[in-house]
Amino acid sequence: MFELCASILAADFAHLSRDVQTAEAAGVDAFHIDIMDGHFVPAISFGTGMVRTMRSLTHKPLDVHLMVDRPLDFVAELAALGAERVSVHAEVPGGPGEALAAIRAAGMQAGLVLNPETPLETATPYLPQIGQLLLMTVQPGRGGQPYLPGSNARIAAAKAMLATAPHPVTIQVDGGITARTLPGAYQAGAGSVVSGSAVFAGPIAFNVRALRYAI
Ligand code: DX5
Ligand code: ZN
Repeated sequence: MFELCASILAADFAHLSRDVQTAEAAGVDAFHIDIMDGHFVPAISFGTGMVRTMRSLTHKPLDVHLMVDRPLDFVAELAALGAERVSVHAEVPGGPGEALAAIRAAGMQAGLVLNPETPLETATPYLPQIGQLLLMTVQPGRGGQPYLPGSNARIAAAKAMLATAPHPVTIQVDGGITARTLPGAYQAGAGSVVSGSAVFAGPIAFNVRALRYAI
């Protein structure tokens, strides 16, 4: 399995409709929407209004990445807006368990996100609840950062860990994915990759083809 998710954080918001349509036509599989609250990470990006906007622009799956202290507060609205998948950080105050359960109960796919320094074993208690394990390959909070060294070994270790999971869990990677870093992540076991600046900075159709060609 290989899925390319375009992170709209790097899109031109003045021409969002155009950028989304171009990326979709070029062959991205899903759109990744980074919600940041200014607490869990320093930056504020956009809220659930962006999910509403994106739902009006595309029928592709919407993959929401919640970088917020209180993910549970967002779940009902995201379900009502038509998000397919919602990922929650393991590092949130009080832990991600309640939010993951609510995401599933609302009929969406649940993902667990680990920051680069969070031990992989942190995910173990949540494996029965999730369909996706998102490994951050940069520090969360902004786009355009370089892929962290050691990420491929971490993906491979996660793949080994997930071999014993009760059901298939896709490894998603997020941060610093380019045509140069994508092959290593894919070969290590990433089934879903998020890319922001390597999709939206410059000629989008060319960029998407380059990312696909890279694997
Ligand atoms: C970072 C976000 C990423 C970001 C990736 O906190 O979670 O989704 O948009 O951007 P690039 O691909 O530019 O590293
Ligand atoms: Zn993200």
